[in-house]
Amino acid sequence: MALVLGIESSCDETAVALVDSDRCIVAQRIASQDAEHAPFGGVVPEIAARAHAERLAPMIDGVLTDANIALTDCDAIAATAGPGLIGGVMVGLVSAKALAMATDIPLIAVNHLEGHALSPRLADESIDFPYALLLVSGGHCQILRVEGVGQYRRLATTIDDALGEAFDKTAKILKLGFPGGPAVERKAMEGNPRAVPLPRPMVGSGEPHFSFAGLKSAVLRAHESGRYEVADIAASFQQAAVDCVTDRLRIALRSMTSVDTLVVAGGVAANATVRGALEKLAADHGMRFAAPPPALCTDNAAMIAWAGIERLGQSDPLDISARPRWPLDPEAEPVRGAGVKA
Ligand code: KG4
Ligand code: ZN
Repeated sequence: MALVLGIESSCDETAVALVDSDRCIVAQRIASQDAEHAPFGGVVPEIAARAHAERLAPMIDGVLTDANIALTDCDAIAATAGPGLIGGVMVGLVSAKALAMATDIPLIAVNHLEGHALSPRLADESIDFPYALLLVSGGHCQILRVEGVGQYRRLATTIDDALGEAFDKTAKILKLGFPGGPAVERKAMEGNPRAVPLPRPMVGSGEPHFSFAGLKSAVLRAHESGRYEVADIAASFQQAAVDCVTDRLRIALRSMTSVDTLVVAGGVAANATVRGALEKLAADHGMRFAAPPPALCTDNAAMIAWAGIERLGQSDPLDISARPRWPLDPEAEPVRGAGVKA
């Protein structure tokens, strides 16, 4: 049995985990930086990098102690090498390099998005390639055909905001606090999803891409009009977002041949309304639906360690660079109107 130490530091979660090839999360620690970033209503990169630097080493030590394992018992050290906030990524990757150099254990530089993309296979051993993946996080919103480890075909991406970003901006407009996604979900439970007329950007378009900037602006206008309850706006926003996602997936699935499983991953996959709608969509298409448990949807190191297990046997040079951008499918055509999103 193989054992991999995983390190995640690409955004505002410092996380360390030990995962074995039997899909057991042997130990894990996760430190959220919500309290540090909350006063600013969003993640401040400099604060994030400093917090990772302060916390990571004791957390690595803690995880090894929790599991009663020596670092030298590990078969590889896997660390997020991008994409993400570069200061934080560097903290995690440099730490992993130092440990790998000191112990002669192979280093595996993991693409954070690959961590999300393979996380359903950590949660459920019956998920085989290929599968259709909706990857929805704070920085990304993509539909991919996952053909194997390292083999991703991107069918759709966002031309402006990611879905998690839209939740976060909506939370900010509605003053629901930080982090935004769970706050919007909670508020939406008290509201009527049909109370506020909101647009469904891109719905009906023949290309499966996403756009959420117009929806966010409509939320702002609805709020400023003073005509609607906050809970109704939250619920109507969430419904509009779900309608966009299901419509876009319907289009993408048309061109995805020989795929019988629909998987959702990334922070927004923790949202129960999103999961429910996708489960129904999969059933309508005669597909199986899979979503990792919510704690494996939001950023964590178990998924990074698992990606390391999937890549076991490979190793990266100790001079590998951290990458602020790192698309899963480098061949994907750029989308007209797309901004900086990979
Ligand atoms: O995957 P993740 O933890 O970090 C990134 O890689 O970006 O995703 C974070 C995003 C945030 O935008 C957050 O608001 C959103 O996922 N999120 C949610 C929920 N939990 C996290 N969005 C909607 N509903 C949730 N329950
Ligand atoms: Zn993530």
